[in-house]
Amino acid sequence: MKKPIEWRSAFNTGIASVDHEHRELVELVNKIHAQLREGSPAELVEARLGELHDSIAAHFALEERIMRDCKYAGYEPHKEDHERLLDDIRDIMESQTADPAAVLAERLAAWFGVHFSTLDAEFHRLMDHR
Ligand SMILES: [Fe+2]
Ligand SMILES: [Fe+2]
Repeated sequence: MKKPIEWRSAFNTGIASVDHEHRELVELVNKIHAQLREGSPAELVEARLGELHDSIAAHFALEERIMRDCKYAGYEPHKEDHERLLDDIRDIMESQTADPAAVLAERLAAWFGVHFSTLDAEFHRLMDHR
């Protein structure tokens, strides 16, 4: 079965520790997607999506703290894009859709494919060259 998100070189920000965290998040999305595809009782779906939400939120919180610490000018739009993804995950949890795996794959693959290679790459490159 095809994974919803395959790592592409375009995702690399060029900073090893960030890319490592991003790879872990992608793997977690793929793992949870596979578990949801197996079909799970509603409580388990909620718990798995909750785990995904919290792991992603922790990564975002760290990034946002670094941005605030260095008074990064692009902070607001970057944070808004983070919140958009967390809202999407909460929506999937609340909607109790019949096929959470499909909705997860569709929304997250699109977001990850763009965010890493644009907003994150821009921010981390700037940090790296300070
Ligand atoms: Fe990131
Ligand atoms: Fe980010």
